[in-house]
Amino acid sequence: MEAITQEQVRGVLQSAIQAPSADNHHPVRFQLDGSHILVHHTRTAWEQPGYQRVLDLLSLGALAENLAIAASQYGVKADMRLFPDPEQPGLALSIDLQPDVTQADPLWHEIPNRHTSRQFRFRGPPFNVTERAQLDAITYAHPSCTLHWLDTAADRKPVLALMRRAETERFHNPVLHEELFSAIRFDVGWRDTSETGLPPGALGVELPLHGLFSTLRHWPVMRMANRFGAHHFLGLRSCDLPCRLAPNLGVLTVKKTDTASVFEAGRVFQRIWLTTTRLGRVLQPMPASALYALDGADAAGIPKALQQDLAEGWKIHFGSLVPVMLFRTGKAKPPLVTAGRPAIEQFLEKS
Ligand SMILES: Cc1cc2nc3c(=O)[nH]c(=O)nc-3n(C[C@H](O)[C@H](O)[C@H](O)COP(=O)(O)O)c2cc1C
Repeated sequence: MEAITQEQVRGVLQSAIQAPSADNHHPVRFQLDGSHILVHHTRTAWEQPGYQRVLDLLSLGALAENLAIAASQYGVKADMRLFPDPEQPGLALSIDLQPDVTQADPLWHEIPNRHTSRQFRFRGPPFNVTERAQLDAITYAHPSCTLHWLDTAADRKPVLALMRRAETERFHNPVLHEELFSAIRFDVGWRDTSETGLPPGALGVELPLHGLFSTLRHWPVMRMANRFGAHHFLGLRSCDLPCRLAPNLGVLTVKKTDTASVFEAGRVFQRIWLTTTRLGRVLQPMPASALYALDGADAAGIPKALQQDLAEGWKIHFGSLVPVMLFRTGKAKPPLVTAGRPAIEQFLEKS
């Protein structure tokens, strides 16, 4: 007898794709064989330096964590092997669903409730001691990752400077501007969601600024506006102030940026996010300043001087630990528009 029915496997995969991903796009396909799942990824070069691979690994880790949590509700353990076959670099995961006696992971209730919130102002109070201990405990089982909190204004000041520089660059650099705006689905309008990409309504842009923000997707307009300092304003509005005012600002670091460690960080980050949701808080990831500091980021269009400044800045703060994710959390009303997902059939390999 199979450990899990095919209907339940579909439910588990449905939960897996509810995981967050960079730009709301999981480039994976699932191949099913009873209680065995193969996860194929469109990326095949995993050792490449740079930040795109880190984004892909973090997103894959989040997907894997959701899958494991969802499987636990059926009394099933997901035994995973990352990159099981060196001959098939596109085969990201091999997963065996095995009967398990441990209890269902209570975080499975939060999978459908978790969304990215980009409201300008998250309100307090910060996590209390018990809540903080719950979040910190997540990393204890994952020695490759460390969670840091930036609580005081003095702690935040140098970090905010690094974050602001990176976010400002997203509006100042034509390559990053294209990367940012091409992910936004202006075609669906401000009230609807989209199955992939970022629906504009989920971006937390205030109603009077909708028209202006849409126009800035055209690089000549953005370049012209930057002559008047638009990029500085946007860096302040989209990152510095929201993070400065947030009740909590967190950073997840890894000891090494090898594939296994970054994948693990993605799993840990997803547990942090689901636990944050369980504690009645919302979260926004803001990893740009960490990602643009990585070796090889300059090959993807990040100015060399910026990459070096960010890398040096992080070294002063965290020594040999490498940040891979930054995020703000707090209380806010649920967003009116959230990112959708394609139907699960679109992720299934035809047998
Ligand atoms: C690795 C990673 C990087 C992300 N980077 C950002 C970011 O820089 N800014 C942001 O607002 N959201 C970021 N997000 C959130 C995604 O945009 C979001 O998960 C996706 O659009 C799906 O929406 P949902 O989280 O509401 O399901 C990131 C998510 C992941 C997993």
